[in-house]
Amino acid sequence: MKVLLDPADQEDALRADVVAGLTATRKWLPPKWFYDTRGSELFEEITELPEYYPTRAERSILETRAGEVARLTGARTLIELGSGYSTKTRLLLDALDLESFVPMDVSPSALTAAADQIGVDFPGLPVHPVVGDITRHLGALPDTPGRLVAFLGGTIGNFEPAERARFFADVRGVLRPGEHLLLGTDLVKSPPVLVPAYDDAAGVTAEFNKNVLRVLNHHLDADFDVDGFAHVALWDADDEWIEMRLRARWPMRVTIPAVGLVVSFATGEEIRTEVSAKFRREGVEKELAEAGFALDQWWTDPEGRFALSLARAV
Ligand code: SAH
Ligand code: AVI
Repeated sequence: MKVLLDPADQEDALRADVVAGLTATRKWLPPKWFYDTRGSELFEEITELPEYYPTRAERSILETRAGEVARLTGARTLIELGSGYSTKTRLLLDALDLESFVPMDVSPSALTAAADQIGVDFPGLPVHPVVGDITRHLGALPDTPGRLVAFLGGTIGNFEPAERARFFADVRGVLRPGEHLLLGTDLVKSPPVLVPAYDDAAGVTAEFNKNVLRVLNHHLDADFDVDGFAHVALWDADDEWIEMRLRARWPMRVTIPAVGLVVSFATGEEIRTEVSAKFRREGVEKELAEAGFALDQWWTDPEGRFALSLARAV
């Protein structure tokens, strides 16, 4: 396994993000810190929840379209960004005639579990996992001909718009004309469907959200009282995204020794922990075009909840 993010780099990056986010007037933390071993497991649990439709919707598109992806791209190397456990990716591995599979994720535990199991289930397929940050390490991806970059799950929606534009440009920057990006995007729909997907009855998403505080307690020796925060999920109709927040239930002073910070929270004060943007075809097509991609295919599930875009580097 190639490791571009060793634990010391990760702790430096975590410290920098915590100082920036928790000293801001409106507190925030980047969502990539959800995904330690427990966070990655909780995300997998989320994908099975009755309220969380995106994974099932995207899987149904892949079931129908993986053969077309293979025919239209002729890909020989599949690079998967933010791959997690690469569960749905198996549909692509079945359909494509690959020389190698390169999953990249910040979560070593998910990546190792995925690579081990795929090694067993796809004997003869070389798997080269990379522990890396997709906002920093795309330059280290293999330069073999016939690459397809898959970015599934709607994780693109967890980037802010400016970060998203930079990311599309970076992906385009590593591809040659004619190579492809397969992009999963969750679509705008009614709040009564969207909000429960991020605030499930069993409370798994609440645990996932609070996990970021556990990560800070564990890695930075912080003393967050996790039960002192309530999970909040709301639909922002102007930005067309779901926002997850953690709201202080009572006044707190939290010590974070590894960065020398004491952070005060008033009752009701919030930390924004994630945006999950929802998309429309016109927006996706425009953003891809701005980065140098042509949208060759736009596939949705029968209920029109989720889209898979096949974009070609031009
Ligand atoms: N692709 C899978 C997993 C989605 S969960 C699916 O569709 O189900 C989001 C994944 O992106 C997690 O595994 C998380 O660890 C990873 N991730 C989030 N931010 C990342 C970053 N900056 N660099 C690399 N991986 C990241
Ligand atoms: C990984 N990402 C696409 C998920 C989402 O839906 O934005 C993360 C998540 N957050 C809460 N539930 C799931």
